[in-house]
Amino acid sequence: MTHTLIKNAEIITMNEKNDIIYGDLYIVGNRIAAIGKNLHPEKVDKVIDAANKTIVPGFIHTHIHLCQTLFRGQADDLELLDWLKKKIWPLEASHDEESIYYSALLGIGELIQSGTTTIVDMETVHHTDSAFQAISQSGIRALAGKVMMDKKDDDLPKALQETTADSIKESVELLEKWHNSNNGRIRYAFSPRFVLSCTEDLLREVSHLSAAYNVHVHTHASENQEEIRIVEAETGMRNIMYLDHLGLANERLILAHCVWLNDQEKQIIKNQGVKVSHCPGSNLKLASGIADVPGLLEQGVFLSLGADGAPCNNNLDMFNEMRLAATIHKPSYGPTAMNAKHVLEMATIGGAKAVGLEKEIGSLEVGKKADLAILNLNQLHTFPSYGVDPISRVVYSATRGDVELTMVDGEIVMENRVLKTIDQGI
Ligand code: GUN
Ligand code: FE
Repeated sequence: MTHTLIKNAEIITMNEKNDIIYGDLYIVGNRIAAIGKNLHPEKVDKVIDAANKTIVPGFIHTHIHLCQTLFRGQADDLELLDWLKKKIWPLEASHDEESIYYSALLGIGELIQSGTTTIVDMETVHHTDSAFQAISQSGIRALAGKVMMDKKDDDLPKALQETTADSIKESVELLEKWHNSNNGRIRYAFSPRFVLSCTEDLLREVSHLSAAYNVHVHTHASENQEEIRIVEAETGMRNIMYLDHLGLANERLILAHCVWLNDQEKQIIKNQGVKVSHCPGSNLKLASGIADVPGLLEQGVFLSLGADGAPCNNNLDMFNEMRLAATIHKPSYGPTAMNAKHVLEMATIGGAKAVGLEKEIGSLEVGKKADLAILNLNQLHTFPSYGVDPISRVVYSATRGDVELTMVDGEIVMENRVLKTIDQGI
């Protein structure tokens, strides 16, 4: 068991009291053992000098498609349904075991270099085991799953077509192989693509299996107005009402986007503890709209942040998502619409709540897992930053290049731009 002492840092804890501590952080194995000034623990194997540096809880990305990392730039300037049919589905269909593996590894490398320590990942129909291999080797914490899309659709390439029974069987096989593996670092999440790709039978079965195995369900919902119009035409219901009708609207459900919700849908999400992953960069790029995040936050909905896949966003960087989340509402709601603290909460403890791990990750507190990033925010500053609010500084001015070290489960997965996977010669 390694004993690591990080010295002299500015520690943004994101605990309930929102403490900022100037001092040391002591890690034993995979957990935080002490936080305070001038710690002198008996046993220390490694000392990290973090003078003038800032430690934040590792970022928790609650919506990503690692299988789309290689498609960056190939699917620009389209709206959701055209983008899926013309670009994304044919590209996903072209994947083989090896390309899925490298797509995942490249995406994870980018995420870890920008301080992300946990992801909620939706893969494609096939070869999901390769993505789990990459997740396992990289050290990142993840909930991941094979996408499920069993509904007949003329626009779907052959390689993405699957039967309801196969979709469920393959998902359960992956769940049994990977759920709670790697010391609990990897978990399974059922991943029906969205209502338009799934039969009612499949969604009902996912609802039962999610309860039986106590695992999350991760899907897209109410992202685009045309999507909603077709869901309503096919089911006679609004999207969230339909998911609720099938028993899916509960605390294990993570819904990406939620741009277009009516009041009744917002109430269901709030009352039933559904988690919403806000993806501002993707919502802008695919011209989906601007989700009413200030309104949802005021209602007490659980909110977190996601970049979505590389082609919806062109980068997988939480600093960009935080900056967008903080700024896009200002023109309509005013300058305090989304303050920096709320935004950093969404990227950290909000994400931890989404994945049901708020007792383990999402803030820097004694007893929690050591998932964190060390930032050097002084590189571009000509004056010392005394008097500046540390949280605003992270949200409004930090960039990916400021991340010097990323740690997951007490293990350093990136230090000074060198990834653990590269160290291992992968
Ligand atoms: N809705 C259904 N599939 C997708 C996808 O791959 N990305 C996004 N952004 N929305 C979707
Ligand atoms: Fe997505």
